[in-house]
Amino acid sequence: MNRLTLMILFLMLYVSITAQNEVKRLPQLKAGKIDNVIAAMSIQDKVYMLMGLGDNNWTNPPVGDKTVIIDGEAGLTWSISKFGIPPTVLTDGPAGLRIEPHPQGKDFTRFCTAFPTATALASTWNAALVENVGKALGNEVLEYGSDVLLAPAINIQRNPLCGRNFEYYSEDPLVAGKLAAAMVRGVQSNGVGTSLKHFVANNIETNRKTINEVVSQRALREIYLRGFEIVVKEAHPWTVMSSYNRLNGFYTSENYDLLTNILRDEWGFKGLVMSDWWAGADAVAQMNAGNDLLMPGCYQRQELLDAIKYKNIDEKVLDRNLNRVLTYILKTPRYKGYVYSNKPDLKAHQLVSENAATEGMVLLKNDNNTLPFKKVKRVALFGKTSYRYIAGGTGSGEVNYDYAPTINESFEKNGFQVDKPLEEIYKQFIDSINKQSSKNDLKFNVDFHPELSLSKAQIAAQVKKSDLAIITIGRNAGEGSDRSIADFSLSDTEKQLIRNVSEIFHAAKKKVVVVLNIGGVIATADWRDEPDAILLAWQTGQEGAYALVDILKGTVNPSGKLPMTFPMTYSDVPSAKTFPGEPADNPVNAFYNEGIFVGYRYYDTFKVPTAYEFGYGLSYTKFEYSKLQLSSDKFKDLITVTVNVKNSGKKAGKEVVELYLHAPALQLEKPVQELKAFAKTDELKPGQSQTMKFTIDSSSLASFRTDKSSWVAEKGTYEVRIGASSNDIRLKSNFLLSDDITVEKVHNVLYPNFPIKELHY
Ligand code: BGC
Repeated sequence: MNRLTLMILFLMLYVSITAQNEVKRLPQLKAGKIDNVIAAMSIQDKVYMLMGLGDNNWTNPPVGDKTVIIDGEAGLTWSISKFGIPPTVLTDGPAGLRIEPHPQGKDFTRFCTAFPTATALASTWNAALVENVGKALGNEVLEYGSDVLLAPAINIQRNPLCGRNFEYYSEDPLVAGKLAAAMVRGVQSNGVGTSLKHFVANNIETNRKTINEVVSQRALREIYLRGFEIVVKEAHPWTVMSSYNRLNGFYTSENYDLLTNILRDEWGFKGLVMSDWWAGADAVAQMNAGNDLLMPGCYQRQELLDAIKYKNIDEKVLDRNLNRVLTYILKTPRYKGYVYSNKPDLKAHQLVSENAATEGMVLLKNDNNTLPFKKVKRVALFGKTSYRYIAGGTGSGEVNYDYAPTINESFEKNGFQVDKPLEEIYKQFIDSINKQSSKNDLKFNVDFHPELSLSKAQIAAQVKKSDLAIITIGRNAGEGSDRSIADFSLSDTEKQLIRNVSEIFHAAKKKVVVVLNIGGVIATADWRDEPDAILLAWQTGQEGAYALVDILKGTVNPSGKLPMTFPMTYSDVPSAKTFPGEPADNPVNAFYNEGIFVGYRYYDTFKVPTAYEFGYGLSYTKFEYSKLQLSSDKFKDLITVTVNVKNSGKKAGKEVVELYLHAPALQLEKPVQELKAFAKTDELKPGQSQTMKFTIDSSSLASFRTDKSSWVAEKGTYEVRIGASSNDIRLKSNFLLSDDITVEKVHNVLYPNFPIKELHY
């Protein structure tokens, strides 16, 4: 070794030791040390930490942490190893994980459980059940190496055509809020985070990244913000995701009033706000607003670096947001060094999913006790989706599950005889659909393809060989576009199929059941008279087809109820004239002219008949309601309501009990009734009763007075209505509030940037 080599070696050693010492001197991310870390960071470090890693090259992320598998995950946060800051992983979504089941370069699979969609979960009205689903889902987040589930999504189902309604819970903010809070509790009990999304008023997918939703302050407070408020206050999600849309002129991700004044100051949110993927237009405005993290991150880096250079943003703003990002990272399994297994207990989760699926299905019609069917051995299965079960929707709401058994497979597994020649006709049809299309979209081809038209002779050929006909009607949708009125309606072929099967089977004194394997509301009024029974199966995850047969044959008694209204026609929907927005072919603004009169608040107040009302759902047994008692007939701080529910029928079952309030409306117009509480009974045996207990506090009495920016409970007589649905009120009682109460004064913010011609009665 010559002198030169020696000197070079020595120099290298010196540089490496100095670098190591320097790293040692740098503060490391630890509880209580966040400010020190921030103080040691360069502007570039800070800017990079405030956005995700970007959307390229996820299979081999340049983060230096070889334990992170990124293949199909939605995004990564930035990492800086010299400060001990690991990358964290963010993964979709609402009905189960969306990750690549065959990660590149790995010799194992990572299938995830497809749980029922949020709409189907909401139809259970069962918070304990939803929490349990959350627990199982969160375990998959943890064991597949992720840190945050990008869910739940709780935008209001304002219009049936919104393409993402299946990801959302309800048209009512209390149902959405209470059940999503249960989901957050369940997921986060695993030590992983959630991202409550999309904050706020993301009710339209058409032009979703630019559309301006024009909403009154009252409708925002009472309808669109309310569910988020419940979840934030009751379940403390780690993160909130701001939405794509503009609201009253401003992007939500750039809106300080929304993300700071309301979310943090009024509701006490302590977590992190991230943007939706590529949302908003102005990174500086986003930072100032309190949108701490920009996802997936990339092009805004230079924008923020320039902003600092030209003093367009105060560095303190970056530090504030960075503090929230680092506080979040400290909580993650990745920071804590959790060694994930890639082996969640999929068998156990399968059962959780099936149980949720059976409770989420809603029996809409059951003439002459057609269901549960008796003496049925041979079934004729009509409709393409009898042979391809739609477990969930598309887009980021999709789940990469292993397999969802189909309805025909489920019948066979349960020992029924499925008519084979009919099955063959549909299987050939499905094959031909798949052959016609490109390989990439095989999974959803069948769902979006028009239904097969069968001749009367083909239908008649089944009658003798079958004891019963089932017709499955399927629909699918996903983010990025809304549904059309044609998709809401049944096609002529579908209606013809229902008509012909019903006529031919009824002539032979055999029954016909329609199963709806759909993600959102469809037309029912123009065909529902024809079949004997209708079961709304929703998109109930990978076990849906098993759950469905359990209900049809009576192993399980249906107990789901509608978390939204099924209107008589699309034109009855209060936002039908304004959806998606103006101009209709390429909307810029969406005017929420119906104001607070969304869903049943509209139908009930304006006495518009519906096909199936909010809160509706049949059972194989009957429930009697009695002994409605109020703790007082004068309101002070709280009223306790108790009611007795008895199973007076012949089959064990559960009942959803709904509490509506009819409030005095002297100072303000009000919906004729609003849901203020709900609960589900345990499974009651025939003859068994349960006492249900609800509490009503002053916030349940309050409406939003825009002129005072306050929630005000108006004095007068309040009627408590206990119902089995919004139209089926069984018991009523009154109490008096002797003086107005200002329950809360809030910021006067988020006023519309255009006049709204709001609906009045
Ligand atoms: C969706 C979000 C989703 C994100 C990441 C966006 O397009 O709106 O709901 O979490 O993508 O996949």
